[in-house]
Amino acid sequence: MIYTITAPRRLRGVVSLPGDKSISHRAVLLNAVASGHAGITNFLTGADCLSTIACVRALGVRVERNEDTVHVYGAGLRSLCEPVDVLDCGNSGTTLRLLAGMLAGQEGMFAVLTGDASLRSRPQQRIVAPLRTLGASLDGRDRGNRAPLAIRGAHLHGGIYELPIASAQVKSALLLAALFGDGTLTLTGRTDGRDHTERMLAAMGAMMTVEGPTIRLIPPERPDALQPLSLRVPGDPSSAAFWWVAAAIHPNAEVTTTGVCLNRTRTGALDTLRAMGAQIEVANQRIEGGEPVGDVTVRSSRLHGAVIEGALIPRLIDELPVLALAAACAEGETTIRDAQELRVKETDRIATVASGLMALGATVEPTDDGMIISGCSNLRGATLESHGDHRLAMTWAIAGLVAKGETVLHGAEAVEVSYPEFWSVLEQVRE
Ligand code: S3P
Repeated sequence: MIYTITAPRRLRGVVSLPGDKSISHRAVLLNAVASGHAGITNFLTGADCLSTIACVRALGVRVERNEDTVHVYGAGLRSLCEPVDVLDCGNSGTTLRLLAGMLAGQEGMFAVLTGDASLRSRPQQRIVAPLRTLGASLDGRDRGNRAPLAIRGAHLHGGIYELPIASAQVKSALLLAALFGDGTLTLTGRTDGRDHTERMLAAMGAMMTVEGPTIRLIPPERPDALQPLSLRVPGDPSSAAFWWVAAAIHPNAEVTTTGVCLNRTRTGALDTLRAMGAQIEVANQRIEGGEPVGDVTVRSSRLHGAVIEGALIPRLIDELPVLALAAACAEGETTIRDAQELRVKETDRIATVASGLMALGATVEPTDDGMIISGCSNLRGATLESHGDHRLAMTWAIAGLVAKGETVLHGAEAVEVSYPEFWSVLEQVRE
């Protein structure tokens, strides 16, 4: 699909956000092995989370969707059935990696996990190696580093694992595997990725402790140990970030995003935009779905460059494409470093973001672990590609709201992965 975007005179609106992608995945996966019914509202109906539902159904779990609720009928920790076919995770790294953890401990079960060309190209050694240390038997192409991954469920034991990268998917895969093992799992090292799995497991009654960077999970003895958790999924800050940047860089804008998840492991983009001089107000803070949420309003701002690095990176990793766009519209230089993980996302986002920004007239120098962006206020419309990457598609759409002339986006349908309503919201906030 090709979408053409031009700059509107004004941007105005109140945007209620789709459910958080990470929380939606986890709500289905964890409730699938809980004992009883859970109702999940504001569930993200993007393609990634629908892949999770399809896989969980293929494992024999009853999942129903009606109007605004996803109903999951968990039948306990030992209830999953061997799937009769390969499990297709589509474009979703979270589905593949979390399921790999969950299935590793289903003794005797054989399952194969695969996905689209992008997912099959992404590295899996990061989960395969630590899962093997717990006794898992799994393998894949490229010596176990690429999907399809074949898993023969095994008797898992506990262990201690030091996470070398701040990946919530790796952390969660290990915690899910440990639920089915027979010994305590201790995680140390880079446990600072998003913590939704830990929050949800604790709320469901799992025996888990978090002390500083050390997470311990003691596997439940009874198969009915996990209580189902009904929740309203908070709004996705990674989707909200597109509107925040749009409002900050457009000269006549005020946009409010309501019900945004304000979990500290996810608010790096807000902190960075503030540090760049964005006018941001947070109101109506409350707790929803076990997470802090609030309404975030952003107005036209004079942005300046920033250094984005270190411990901040995992807190904004998915927002870096659109933050790079903000940097291209800011005064002065922005340096992004320590973000080598961008190279193994849905696309190599250092290469794809840098080349798209350059096509828009920005000066960008890609580096091994980030990029250096020289701000300029006059982007010009260009013909851009999503490369099948949802966050690139949305970043280029937002660029089109401030660039001079027309921005023509090829592969606009990629937004389906995480934000199916994106194009209609875009039309709604343009004036
Ligand atoms: C996610 C974790 C992050 C993030 C991805 C979703 C999750 O990936 O980029 O979009 O739901 O756990 P990593 O775990 O690879 O950092």
